[in-house]
Amino acid sequence: MPNVLVLGGSGYLGLALSKSLVASGNYTVWGSARTPEKGKLLALSEISPVEDDITNAEILSTIIIENDINVVVDTTSAYEHAMQILEGVTQAAKTRRDTLAKENFIGPKLGFVYCSGTWVHGSPSARVSDLSPVGTTVSKGKPATPTAWRAGHEQAILAARDVLDVAILRPATIYGRGSWIWNTWWEPVLKAKQSGNNSEAIQIPADVQARSPTVHVDDVAAGFHAAIDRIDGGLGAWPVFDLVTETVGVQEVTEAVKGAFEVTAPVEYTGTHGNPFFEALSLVSKTEAGRARTVLGWEPRRTEFILNIPVYVRAWEAAQ
Ligand SMILES: NC(=O)c1ccc[n+]([C@@H]2O[C@H](COP(=O)([O-])OP(=O)(O)OC[C@H]3O[C@@H](n4cnc5c(N)ncnc54)[C@H](OP(=O)(O)O)[C@@H]3O)[C@@H](O)[C@H]2O)c1
Repeated sequence: MPNVLVLGGSGYLGLALSKSLVASGNYTVWGSARTPEKGKLLALSEISPVEDDITNAEILSTIIIENDINVVVDTTSAYEHAMQILEGVTQAAKTRRDTLAKENFIGPKLGFVYCSGTWVHGSPSARVSDLSPVGTTVSKGKPATPTAWRAGHEQAILAARDVLDVAILRPATIYGRGSWIWNTWWEPVLKAKQSGNNSEAIQIPADVQARSPTVHVDDVAAGFHAAIDRIDGGLGAWPVFDLVTETVGVQEVTEAVKGAFEVTAPVEYTGTHGNPFFEALSLVSKTEAGRARTVLGWEPRRTEFILNIPVYVRAWEAAQ
């Protein structure tokens, strides 16, 4: 069984992925955790906790070598340390390669799967896919400000293919269970429900034309799982995949959430107030996941986001 280390293993996506890998019976899984409580959460799910500082390249490299890790997955939000994480993984791969080379042996490359996001496409002027360049002068959209650096980081990962087998997965806006990213749009509706005031307008900090790409957290985990299954040569020449199930407009989402909360107050879309995160949520998505379906064999199972939104809203409310 290959050994997989999930960085961010105790996070929203990292935990869903780690559990999926364990449940398959095909992988032994390690996960990073920053507190003993989160370490315990991982251990309970048969995931070996790593509580060292994985943002330190030396420490990360040692963890990979000592635990004989075959694939590392970066699902952290340690954005300012992304380069050190890549350095640690690359360093481990070179150490392993050079050790074997001394005995005239070769071995498989270390695998590295990176979690990016569809916000790197921005609001493109026309339909795009994961084959469309992002962050360049010929790109059809400009990456959302909070993820502008990611276009360059994706390139750094692709450039490390001489020592690593890599995959870059770009989830859309994720829903299901905690659904934390939807707080900005859903909290004002929850507050209206709690106040019982159905006459005052609910103010949503979004552009009225916002159109969000969406995907369920379990389907994102399945996409990463499929990429890990194929990491040693099964991903083709361009191992970059957008994971999107459907795109939905902010008005449709808000009306569905109002219905779930039985709120009838009117809604005012107040724009993004110069807030880069609100701006990113207000992008107009024009990407889809054709290549994930054909190359990864990805079959998202959780569709009909709007139809099923009462379930997701109740789970989100329970997580508040
Ligand atoms: N959620 C979405 O809708 C969405 C959509 C597209 C892309 N993404 C990307 O998916 C990745 C995971 O997001 P998520 O929603 O799962 O977020 P999350 O629940 O906040 O998980 C992030 C994980 O990273 C860990 N982490 C953060 N800073 C760290 C540091 N300095 N050192 C070590 N670990 C650190 C966190 O540890 P703690 O638990 O200890 O804080 C947590 O385990 C991110 O890169 C995000 O940009 C998310």
